Amino acid sequence: MQIEIHSGRIEEAQADAVMVNVFQDPGALGGATGAIDRALKGLIHQAIEEGDFKGKVGETAVFYTQGALAAPRVIVVGIGTQAEFGLDAVRRAAAAGAKRAQDMGVRHVATVTQGAGAGLLDPTSAAQAVVEGTLLATYRFDDYKSGARPKSALDKLTLVEIDNLKMEAERKGAYIGQAIAEGAKLARDLVNQPPNYLTPAKFAEAAMAVAADRPGLTVKVLEKVQMAELGMGALLGVAQGSSEPPKFIILEHGPTDEPPVVIVGKGITFDTGGISIKPAMRMELMKGDMAGAAAVLGAMQVASDLNLPLHVVGLIAATENMPSGNAIKPADVLKAMNGKTIEIISTDAEGRLVLADALSYAQTLTPPPQAMVDLATLTGAIFVALGRSAAGLFSNNDRVAEQLFQAGEETGERVWRLPLFPEYREVIDSDVADMRNSAATQPAPAGAGVGAIFIQEFVGNFPWAHLDVASMTYHTASHPLGPKGATGYGVRLLTQFLRHWQPLEEKD
Ligand code: BES
Ligand code: MN
Ligand code: ZN
Repeated sequence: MQIEIHSGRIEEAQADAVMVNVFQDPGALGGATGAIDRALKGLIHQAIEEGDFKGKVGETAVFYTQGALAAPRVIVVGIGTQAEFGLDAVRRAAAAGAKRAQDMGVRHVATVTQGAGAGLLDPTSAAQAVVEGTLLATYRFDDYKSGARPKSALDKLTLVEIDNLKMEAERKGAYIGQAIAEGAKLARDLVNQPPNYLTPAKFAEAAMAVAADRPGLTVKVLEKVQMAELGMGALLGVAQGSSEPPKFIILEHGPTDEPPVVIVGKGITFDTGGISIKPAMRMELMKGDMAGAAAVLGAMQVASDLNLPLHVVGLIAATENMPSGNAIKPADVLKAMNGKTIEIISTDAEGRLVLADALSYAQTLTPPPQAMVDLATLTGAIFVALGRSAAGLFSNNDRVAEQLFQAGEETGERVWRLPLFPEYREVIDSDVADMRNSAATQPAPAGAGVGAIFIQEFVGNFPWAHLDVASMTYHTASHPLGPKGATGYGVRLLTQFLRHWQPLEEKD
């Protein structure tokens, strides 16, 4: 989508539709909305008076201008109450308006930068939110639809700013918003791809393609032999049931002589459960079991596009989890890269196995990490605990946890901290190995916490956080910021976290 900033008045904008907003609280229509309303001889005012338009976030109304404006249509979006107003309202309002425009076949929308005027938000963040909302809401995945005519798309957005002093800030915000939305789109595309297309090898190719366009971003792909040399017995154990070779993908951005912040993604390109096979019902959703890895790749792309002044390493452990004559089975014992042994109870608890090696590997980087964050569609239990409202956050470090929480609040990609109670560890005591990979019987209490405490065995004393994103990355119904399918969850969260990262020693 082409995105432009124009100096001028919204009532004079040349576009297929102009977009303005209305608060839910009663009051006179001011600013741009007031100007448009006057040009339309009070049509917007009347719609509110009649009770047809309330100004709730997500609400839209369309008016035709009959020559009163240069544009043939006005899209009015609700932005909620003054009390609840913030960037999330702006993002959702822009999303609703853009979606409405795209559904009508409108190609070019001119909008005010919602919130930067009477809303009193800083113009950079407001422009960023408008652009993010617009791009996320109009996302579509139709790579595999043959024959169907491509539906017309909203392909141009103009931010019209009357105050010249805000133009530069909005231009910057629009650039940031576009980079972040592109990262989220990349993550969505990867998750939406069918698993016979998006194999571990194709995931590695996707990572190489991202790096190829970006000189500051490097990528290295470890093959099976190299993983074996490193002793990645847990990752290789998961991979051995599949005829698709696993790939361990290492992305790097920023000053390589500084301790990196390492982000790690679970990249199971399809999770059948392995020998502990999953029920057939809804198994197709397991193509999304690489959503943590997709978020990591998306965030690495954004880190590069925004030139973040921070050393960031992205690690992706990519493999299928398949049943076969070569597959691992319950009672097998695997040895992870850090030397710890794991008795397999369920081959379906495979995410923690691949993360064990990825997090062990992270600690061998030079210089060593200043913090590690993993994202994984790890457990069904996290959906029981938190629903679709937030990802589960587990951490051994309060300041890392706090920074992730803040990033979640600011982006609307929320996280909620859950405990790592020491007694969870007893659940994975093994008679034959250092630990087992799941509780002996399922379902077991605190399944997400038990998964997290397993992963903690592989982080040493490094500051670390684990995000169980299983309930956030794929929606079977459309939502305010996009259609059903992949959400791209984690890209905006990680980007915000990295942009505002506070080194741990320097604070306290
Ligand atoms: N990939 C699944 C978790 C999952 C479930 C993600 C639903 C998205 C939606 C994971 O590998 C898994 O199978 N977890 C098991 C763990 C159990 C065997 C300890 C689960 O949650 O049942
Ligand atoms: Mn599984
Ligand atoms: Zn899985």
